[in-house]
Amino acid sequence: MTIATPFTDSYDKAFLLETMMGPNAMRVAEELASFLPLREGMRVLDLGCGMGISSILLARKFGVTVFAADLWITPTDNFRRFEALGLGERIVPLSVDATRELPFAEGYFDVLFSVDAYHYFGADEAVLPRLLPLVRPGGHVAVAVPGLLRELPGGEVPEELRPFWVPEMNDQFHSLPWWRALWERAAGLRLGPCREMDCLRRAWDDWLESPNPYARQDVPMMQAEGGKYFSLVQLCGQRI
Ligand SMILES: C[S@@+](CC[C@H](N)C(=O)[O-])C[C@H]1O[C@@H](n2cnc3c(N)ncnc32)[C@H](O)[C@@H]1O
Repeated sequence: MTIATPFTDSYDKAFLLETMMGPNAMRVAEELASFLPLREGMRVLDLGCGMGISSILLARKFGVTVFAADLWITPTDNFRRFEALGLGERIVPLSVDATRELPFAEGYFDVLFSVDAYHYFGADEAVLPRLLPLVRPGGHVAVAVPGLLRELPGGEVPEELRPFWVPEMNDQFHSLPWWRALWERAAGLRLGPCREMDCLRRAWDDWLESPNPYARQDVPMMQAEGGKYFSLVQLCGQRI
C-alpha cells in the first residue's frame, strides 16, 4: 500500500517557518480536515486564521472558498500573502473579533474551522450557540486547540511549568473531557469525533524550528513539559 505524503510535508518549509504563529497550523489543519467531507466550492470560515496557513491548506488541498478571519493579523497583510500565492480569488481575508457579532448571514458556511485560536474566545458555554447559526444545517464545526492531557488537580500548575505559565492559561487550557463536556451542552450540535490529535509532537517540533521569538521562548517550555502535560484537542460536530 502506498501512503501519500501529507500536503504539509511537501509544502515550502521556509514559508511555513515565517508564517507559523504556534504549533504548525498547516499540519494541524491537515489532520483536522481529514475528518471533514470537504468538496470544491464549499464555503469555510477559518476563524482565528492568523497568517492564514490553515486557509492556504484548505484552499489548495480541497478547492474550498475560505473566509480567513482574524483579530491580530490585518486583512491587508493576509491578502498580500494570498495574492502572491495565486489564491486571491479563493481566500477572502477579513478582520473580525469572534467575541462580537460576526458579519455573516445565518447558514452561510458549510464548515466553521479553527486552529489554535478557539481557546482565546471559545472556552465559555455562550460561544458555540452564538457561532453555530452561521453554519448551515448539516454543516460542520471543527476546532483544534492546545490543551492539557488532564485538568490540573485543584488548578495547581506543576512546578516545571510555572516559569512559563501565564494567568490566561488557567481559562484557556483544558483537557479533552472538559472541552467535550462544554460542547455536549450546546443545543443544536451533534457531537462528532473529539480526540487528542496525532500530530501534536510534529506540529510542535515544526514550530520550535521557527525563528519567531515566541517559538524561541517556547523551546525551554517544551523541554520542561517533556510530553507530560500538553495535548492538542480536536472537537468536531455537526449542526442539526
Ligand atoms: C496563536 S495564534 C494562531 C493563528 C493561526 N490559527 C495559526 O495557528 O497559525 C491565535 C490567533 O487567534 C486569533 N484570535 C484571538 N482572539 C480572537 C478573537 N476574539 N477573534 C478572532 N480571532 C482571534 C488571533 O488573532 C491569532 O491570530
